[in-house]
This record gives sequence, structure tokens and C-alpha cells, in this order.
Amino acid sequence: MHTRQLTKADFDQIVAVIDHWWGGPTTALAHPIFFYEFGSHALIAEEDGGMVGFLLGFITAEPPSVGYIHLVGIDPAWRRRGVGRVLYQEFERRARSLGAARLKAITTVGNQASLGFHRSLGYAMEQVPDYAGVGRARFVFTRDL
Ligand SMILES: CC(C)(COP(=O)(O)OP(=O)(O)OC[C@H]1O[C@@H](n2cnc3c(N)ncnc32)[C@H](O)[C@@H]1OP(=O)(O)O)[C@@H](O)C(=O)NCCC(=O)NCCS
Repeated sequence: MHTRQLTKADFDQIVAVIDHWWGGPTTALAHPIFFYEFGSHALIAEEDGGMVGFLLGFITAEPPSVGYIHLVGIDPAWRRRGVGRVLYQEFERRARSLGAARLKAITTVGNQASLGFHRSLGYAMEQVPDYAGVGRARFVFTRDL
């Protein structure tokens, strides 16, 4: 397995598979800005030339700079095989090299897989009420670099 930067063909494939990978309507989260504006930070993981996972994110400009992971998704057939970990490690390596002081990700309350994944990678976790609007709590994960 290896990781590389996202191409437009990869982005199109993400849009095509995302509802299946999440098990419900999720396409809106794969916004085109994550290719057109932030594509240099987006990654895919490949095995035998096929995409098995992706990570969409960016590095904030204002100090202290934050490496923000917007969306990570792994092919259901490839889960619990370290693909998510490898994508996070590569994003971290790139974020560090660009001077990021911290990593951050959010997820909906109730996403136990995401919770277990971020815990395992050493992220601190906080449930923030109204994070995404009134009545829209989120888990906020952070890790200082
Ligand atoms: C969450 C997700 C990205 C994890 O990816 P993954 O490639 O399966 O994770 P890894 O194999 O790298 O797991 C690393 C560690 O995280 C933890 N972990 C991963 N999935 C977990 C789960 N479902 N429940 C509990 N802990 C989990 C484990 O400690 C795991 O190590 P182990 O397998 O040696 O025990 C994947 O399940 C996924 O794509 N889910 C759907 C999309 C989603 O919810 N994305 C996150 C919010 S945007």
C-alpha cells in the first residue's frame, strides 16, 4: 500500500463511492474545494492501483497553523488494516513540514468507529455542544505536534 496526492480522477471516484463507504448520503462532505483549492493536501491510499482510502484536509494559514482533517474514509473491505493510520501519518508528516503546530478533526456524536480510531492515534477528545450550530454537538479531536 502507498499514499499519494489526490488527482481529479481520484476525486471523481471518491464522489462515486462515498455514499457506499459511509452507508448513507454523504456526498455533500466531499466538496470540490478539497480538490480545487486544497488538493495539494489531499491524499489517497492505493493497493494494486486501486483506491482503498482517502483523506481530505488542509493546513490553516494563521499561526498557530493547524492541520485540519476534514474527511477520512476507508473502503469497508479494507478497514482495520491500518489504512486510516497510514493516511493520518502521511498527512501529519506533511503538516509538520509546513510548520503546523497541531492537528484537528471533528466527527458526529455517535460515530464510534471514528472515536476509537482517533483515540488509538493519541488524539485528545472533547464533546462540544452547538459546535456545528444549535443542537449540533460534535466530537472535536486534537493532537499537538
Ligand atoms: C474510522 C475509519 C477511518 C478507520 O479507518 P481504518 O483504516 O479502519 O483504521 P485503522 O485500521 O488504521 O485503525 C487504527 C486503529 O484505530 C482503532 N479503530 C479503527 N476502527 C475502529 C472501530 N471501528 N472501532 C474502534 N476502534 C477502531 C483501532 O485501535 C485500530 O487499531 P487496531 O485495528 O490495531 O485495533 C474507518 O472506519 C472509516 O472509513 N469509517 C467510515 C467513515 C468515517 O466515519 N470517517 C471518520 C469521520 S470523517
